[in-house]
Amino acid sequence: MRIIGFFGKGGTGKTTLTALVLRELVKRRMGEILVVDADPNECLASVLGVDRPSRLSDMLLKYKRQREQSPELTGIDIFQNLFDTLLVEGEHEGYDMLVMGRGEGTGCYCAVNSLLLSVFAKTIDDEHYDYLLMDCEAGVEHIARKTSAEINDAVIVTDASKVSLDTLERIKAVASEVSARIETYYVVANRCRPDMLSRVEETAERLGFRYLGALPDDPNLAEIAYEGKTVFDLPEDSPAVQAVEKFLDAYN
Ligand SMILES: Nc1ncnc2c1ncn2[C@@H]1O[C@H](COP(=O)(O)OP(=O)(O)O)[C@@H](O)[C@H]1O
Ligand SMILES: [Mg+2]
Repeated sequence: MRIIGFFGKGGTGKTTLTALVLRELVKRRMGEILVVDADPNECLASVLGVDRPSRLSDMLLKYKRQREQSPELTGIDIFQNLFDTLLVEGEHEGYDMLVMGRGEGTGCYCAVNSLLLSVFAKTIDDEHYDYLLMDCEAGVEHIARKTSAEINDAVIVTDASKVSLDTLERIKAVASEVSARIETYYVVANRCRPDMLSRVEETAERLGFRYLGALPDDPNLAEIAYEGKTVFDLPEDSPAVQAVEKFLDAYN
C-alpha cells in the first residue's frame, strides 16, 4: 500500500488536490483506495459529495459506550467491530472514505489521533488497500508523532508567497525533529503566476523535495463549488484535471 499525505498552509489547495488525485486514481482503477480527511477543518467530504461521512470521532464515542456496557469484551475486539462497520459505512463508488473529526473536549485530538494510528496499523496490516490518501493539516507533526507508519509520499501544496514557501522549510525542519518517516517529498505549485513558478521550483530543489509541477487556476473548481457539485463532475478537459493526470504520469 502507498500512503500519500497532502500537506501545506491552510487555503493552498490540499483538499482540492487530494480530491483531484482521488478522482484520477478511481478513474484509472488503481485498486482499493481509502481516503482520510485528517484536517480538523473538514472540507473533503463536501468536495467529494459525501453527505454523511463516517467519523472516527463518532466511533470513539461508540467505543467508550461499548467499553462500559460490555466489560467482557476486550478493547481491541470492540475496536475491530466498530472499525469494520465504519469502513462499510464509508464505502463510496470506487473508494472508501473516513473523516477523523474533532476530538471531544477543547483542543485535544489525542484520542482521535490514537484511533487514526489504529487505522494505519490495521490498513497496513491487512493489505486490503492499495492506496491511503490523507488530506492533512499544514504540518507533518500530528501525523508523525502519532503514527509509526511510514508515509511514502508527502505532497506539499504551496503558492508562490513567501509565507507559504516558509511552510515548506518548516515542514522539513519539524519532520526531522519528530523523526517523521517520510520516503519522498513532493511539491505542487498551486495557482501560481507563471513568472513566479521558478521560486517554488528553486525552493523545492534547495530543500531536496521533488517538484511535480503546477496546478493551474481552474475556473471550473469555483463553478462546481458554486453549483454544489463535486470534483467527479469536473469535465475531463478541465485544466486542473489535466494537470493532475500529468502529475500521476510523472509520479509512476
Ligand atoms: N487550482 C485551483 N483553481 C481554482 N480554485 C482553486 C484551486 N485550488 C484551490 N482552489 C480553491 O481554493 C479554495 C481553498 O482550497 P482548498 O483545497 O480547500 O485548500 P486547503 O485544503 O489547503 O485549505 C477552495 O475554494 C478551492 O476550490
Ligand atoms: Mg482542506
